[in-house]
Amino acid sequence: MINEVYEYQKLVVQNRIVRAATNDYCGEEDGSISAKQIDLYRHLAQSGIGMIITGNFFIAEDGRLDSNQNTIDERFDHDGAKLLCDTVHTYGSKIIFQISHAGRKTKVSELLAKHFDSAQEIRDEEIDTIITGFAEASRRAKESGADGVQIHFGHGYLLSELLTERKDGVEIASKLFKAVREIVDIYPVLVKVNTDIPDYIKKNFYKCCEKYAIWAIELSGSDFIQKTKKEHLYYVKDIQICKDSCNVPVMLTGGLRNKEDIEKALSKGANLVGMSRPFICQPDLLTNLDTEGSRCVSCNRCFHIYKERKQHCAMRSE
Ligand SMILES: Cc1cc2nc3c(=O)[nH]c(=O)nc-3n(C[C@H](O)[C@H](O)[C@H](O)COP(=O)(O)O)c2cc1C
Repeated sequence: MINEVYEYQKLVVQNRIVRAATNDYCGEEDGSISAKQIDLYRHLAQSGIGMIITGNFFIAEDGRLDSNQNTIDERFDHDGAKLLCDTVHTYGSKIIFQISHAGRKTKVSELLAKHFDSAQEIRDEEIDTIITGFAEASRRAKESGADGVQIHFGHGYLLSELLTERKDGVEIASKLFKAVREIVDIYPVLVKVNTDIPDYIKKNFYKCCEKYAIWAIELSGSDFIQKTKKEHLYYVKDIQICKDSCNVPVMLTGGLRNKEDIEKALSKGANLVGMSRPFICQPDLLTNLDTEGSRCVSCNRCFHIYKERKQHCAMRSE
């Protein structure tokens, strides 16, 4: 099952394994793509991952999370992005650009983060600008050769805040999908969303995804950081909830650490499975998946260790 080819809306993926979006803290300060990033993605693609979702690109300066994050606003590094896509494609892997607005999590300034703190106070004109930002970002991704985009509706970022804290949250999502579709037409558009949101929002959102022919819904949550090494398959029960609500393929991410976890997720109905920390720990994990599971201990040091000592994982010295 793991190695079965997956095809949906004409996009063919060589197996069911996805590297979930992972910020690598290696972009250039001006938001362009660094040589180090090209290398990182080359290693991932070489190891046989079916699809790689990039770390989140910010769609506007006020939605920037991190100083070494890549931009997909008007300063987008088109040549770097094209090289990134070509590099991944050389090894038969697919590449999806994740696009985001960090909202209250932005580190641009405390004042700005505070401004986004109340979902109710974000003005309609601002929401329109943000929607245009996502649509334009999707266009840039498509032009650079990416196989699709993933819109980040999870982890407390702006779209997840709007979706869950405003009465018109699903309406905003619908407006955004419409704007994206108008600009990219038929093109794989994925979403990542938290499962720990109220049921009625979740189900309406899933239906909205179906209406706009979303390529896949990635099930996630904000609580993955609190999970212990012993916990696996954090969001597995949501596969069925999603499948019962809409006819959109599902990708499950969070706490998949070995072949058994992956097979279980697929047998429960996931079309694809995502892993993030296991690939930080072992970019070539797939080459020995049959004999051993991931060495990742879910310590979460990968969130800061690169800035401290230019190392990606506490479990490997590089
Ligand atoms: C260092 C690091 C960076 C991450 N960056 C992103 C990101 O850019 N976008 C995103 O949606 N999720 C991001 N995540 C979350 C992962 O995609 C994933 O949802 C989460 O780590 C749970 O999966 P895992 O148990 O396989 O690590 C990041 C996680 C880590 C550890």
